[in-house]
Amino acid sequence: MLTNLVKSKQSLIFLTLCLTSYIAFVLLALYFKPVTLANFLGFLALIAYIATLLPSTFRTVFPNMRSNKILVWLLKRRRHIGIISYVLASNHGLLMIIQKNINLLSADTYIRYFQGILILFIMSLLAITSNDWSVKGLKHNWKKLHQLTYLILLILPWHILDKMSPSWSYLTPLELIIIFLFVYFSIKRKRLEAKSS
Ligand code: HEM
Repeated sequence: MLTNLVKSKQSLIFLTLCLTSYIAFVLLALYFKPVTLANFLGFLALIAYIATLLPSTFRTVFPNMRSNKILVWLLKRRRHIGIISYVLASNHGLLMIIQKNINLLSADTYIRYFQGILILFIMSLLAITSNDWSVKGLKHNWKKLHQLTYLILLILPWHILDKMSPSWSYLTPLELIIIFLFVYFSIKRKRLEAKSS
């Protein structure tokens, strides 16, 4: 009797999930534009960038997650993930330049794509200095330089909202939710660090 009840509950949950997924995908197809490779690369760059901030932020905000295996794995590979994010972001920028026929010799381009270019510039600085040699050479300035990563967290939603405002893709709402959640966790982290110091 009890096992039958559990089974029918599981079937009901499965059916609800199926129906919800149909509704969600029909709505996405109706109201959002499809994703091009350039957009998808921008999305992947964002995910990789967030993955670089995730371990230190989550370990402070959720102290009971300090020994979480995924967070420890991400922490150890933070530099490599940051470089992967940079490569994905520069490929996104390159494909956008080709796709949208962006003229790099026009001053207007640098005004119009100011946020994307600034993020790419910051990411270049971080990628070039993501090695032991730079840590030794720059001493305490290295930490200050790498604090610039938090500036990306503020410019990125501006870039996405500005560039995607004519019509959002399937990925745009997800990207914005991820960024705003992360901004919230980063503020919480800074507050906790200020309290404990
Ligand atoms: C030279 C630099 C860049 C240029 C010219 C550029 C250009 C663009 C353009 C034109 C769009 C709108 C695409 C559309 O209309 O469908 C866009 C969206 C986007 N860009 Fe960039 N971008 C640059 C750098 C970056 C960087 C460094 C990132 C870092 C993560 C990034 C992440 C994104 C994301 C996540 C979207 C939204 C994609 C979507 O929701 O489908 N971009 N970019």
